[in-house]
Amino acid sequence: MKKLTVKTALDNYPVLIGVDVFNFLPQLIEERNLPKRFFVIVDENVFKHFSSIINKNLNPFGTKISFIILKASEKSKSLKTLQRLYTILSEKNFGRDTLIVAIGGGTLGDIAGFAASTYMRGVPLIHIPTTLLSCVDSSIGGKTAVNFKDAKNLIGTFYQPEAVLIDLNFLETVPRKEIISGLGEVVKYSYLTNGDFYEELLSKSNKLIKKDLDYLSRVIYECAKIKAAVISKDEKEISGVRKILNFGHTFAHAFESNSSYKISHGKAVLAGIISAIYLSRKKELISDNQLKRMVELPLKFKSFINLKDFDEKKLFNLMSYDKKRKDEKIKFVLIKNFGEILVDLEAQRKEIHCALKKTREVLI
Ligand code: GLY
Repeated sequence: MKKLTVKTALDNYPVLIGVDVFNFLPQLIEERNLPKRFFVIVDENVFKHFSSIINKNLNPFGTKISFIILKASEKSKSLKTLQRLYTILSEKNFGRDTLIVAIGGGTLGDIAGFAASTYMRGVPLIHIPTTLLSCVDSSIGGKTAVNFKDAKNLIGTFYQPEAVLIDLNFLETVPRKEIISGLGEVVKYSYLTNGDFYEELLSKSNKLIKKDLDYLSRVIYECAKIKAAVISKDEKEISGVRKILNFGHTFAHAFESNSSYKISHGKAVLAGIISAIYLSRKKELISDNQLKRMVELPLKFKSFINLKDFDEKKLFNLMSYDKKRKDEKIKFVLIKNFGEILVDLEAQRKEIHCALKKTREVLI
């Protein structure tokens, strides 16, 4: 088992990574003196495969447990789903002595986190991510959200969990297409450090595509380490350090929204990274040679991205609604070099159109 620590203003919390780390849950609940009334929000598929192990780790406490089985999707990341959770919590008389345990992928974690941060002004939360995307990104760092109207993650909070348990057993039953969907965030991390991780992923991209679990466990640890370090420096995206994690995301959110969330977040991030690299070139932050090297990795996964053709004007308008918008200008996270990410950069409408046009040329 490997352990990372996320340092935050209120508390530090552990991220445990390994096979069977779920079995540490009872010990963790005792150590951190957490409530023993459990509201378990669990993904439908995960529950199908792992209900006995989930019960085994929660039943010893012999207190109140409610299981809410969710078929989470980007569409269900809504106020309506939240209302359903609040209704069950209140009807079953869950009080402030409740521990919410979120077992599932990124969308489930986002909704569960939002419910935990708001129900009775906040109850403790443990994340048990079960998809590649949630293991490497969304379960760490305390972002919670629901989508509203056309805008992704428009309503949300920062709310750090008590712990994150990344049990690699869960990945065994995750379909390969789900792993591919998580690759966008994995690839993103490889631009945030000196380039070694990028080269490694480039040479081992086949292992990722084939869902090699041994290699995935190394990749998850590497990504979680980068994420934990960034969050420890800038928990609430105040100093700007955390914004580097949004590399490719301004474009990605627009691709997702434009497809009515039919394209998965991870795949949209792959496309968004390509657009951000072209925009970086357009703004002369990188040379042609750097561009060529930087697009090589996301393009390895080109056949999986399935981006439908798009209208630049519509995408531009969607980006204007992005939550990172300030003073009517869209802000981008762009790249100058590996490990040198620039945040809050503005771009002219024509530069954005040009980056989108290049993205279309290489992807569609
Ligand atoms: N996924 C970006 C962040 O956690 O800040």
